[in-house]
Amino acid sequence: MLNIQNIRNDFPILSRQINGNPLIYFDNAATSQTPQVVIDAIVTYYSKYNANIHRGVHTLSQEATDAYEHARQDIQTHFNAKHAHEIILTSGTTHSINIVANGFSEFLKKGDEIIVSALEHHSNIVPWQMLCQRTGAILKVIPINLNGELIVEAFNELVSEKTKLVFVNHVSNALGTINPIEHIIKKSHNVNAAVLIDGAQACPHIKPDLQALNADFYVASAHKLCGPTGVGMLYGKEKWLNKLPPYQGGGEMIADVSFEKTTYAGLPHKFEAGTPNICGGIAFGVALNYMNTIGFETIAAYENELLNYATKQLLTIEGLKIYGTSKQKTAVISFNLKEIHPYDVGSILNQLGIAVRTGHHCAQPIMDFFEIPGTVRASFSFYNTKAEIDALVKAVKKAKTMLSI
Ligand code: ALA
Repeated sequence: MLNIQNIRNDFPILSRQINGNPLIYFDNAATSQTPQVVIDAIVTYYSKYNANIHRGVHTLSQEATDAYEHARQDIQTHFNAKHAHEIILTSGTTHSINIVANGFSEFLKKGDEIIVSALEHHSNIVPWQMLCQRTGAILKVIPINLNGELIVEAFNELVSEKTKLVFVNHVSNALGTINPIEHIIKKSHNVNAAVLIDGAQACPHIKPDLQALNADFYVASAHKLCGPTGVGMLYGKEKWLNKLPPYQGGGEMIADVSFEKTTYAGLPHKFEAGTPNICGGIAFGVALNYMNTIGFETIAAYENELLNYATKQLLTIEGLKIYGTSKQKTAVISFNLKEIHPYDVGSILNQLGIAVRTGHHCAQPIMDFFEIPGTVRASFSFYNTKAEIDALVKAVKKAKTMLSI
């Protein structure tokens, strides 16, 4: 059982006023808010032991290195990866996907097939299109139904001996649909295709067990998990990370350098060229530990309660349509008011202190499927309340009255 008031007290930003109203933050799918314990970790790093890592014999460097590698172990434990060196710290999900997409240029040939889904964020579409352009591979797309769910039978038909890679998100950022990734992973492995799961939107709500899941790659960003922006992870099975070429050349990713030949460092350093986001990595570990103290099952149950309540209340508004009606979804509601542009609704909500995202949510193919320019997206977190949802419903009604012709 969550003590919401105590939890809200952990987040200083939640006491802000916006346009004279208390902030109601419903843009958690874009980025989550930051608890004091994470802010403190960032301040402590810069005020006590800011130094470069893996490089110095001096005390500050050793402290920073220990904290950074400790964070990697916390991330490994959270995701239940087999080895800490299977966790590559990156600048975020997009960076992680690009490392894999770039590396696979060496393994694909003309006519090989790559499968993505129609529910993907642009970051899980564009790098694969670029990979196809480089290699002559063909991109196939798993279609969706009117509930915003992947059509599993269509996926079963698409997957074949030609399939070399399959990329799907665990949860859709635009609609909140939870995808049947266990089935997709098994079926893809039957034809020896590698699978990358984009976990950016799932990880704030679901704690994945990477060894049980058995995906080849899993990617996520810290800033959706109460951590800072600019840091994320690429999990890859050891055998894949050893096979993939490095993405960037530079310091720290080498074993030995001469003008004739360079040999690369082992994992994870091979993929961490240059000075990384040291403070961000440390804060990522702290953020995961904070969320684990609350507990992911408790978080999921509470957010599900918010989702059901908000869905019911919003649907009392005549002319409001929800996009993404799967029974398997996280606490995301994408909606439109008949004939009214989502941007206009979002602007009025902002006047009333309510933060939502409007637009295509970097998932234009989904909007094209529903033949809409975009949606208003309210995405909830464990620090939101039913009272805030009541305020949202009231504000949407007001927006409807103000904007109806
Ligand atoms: N991918 C983030 C979102 O869905 C930014 O809003």
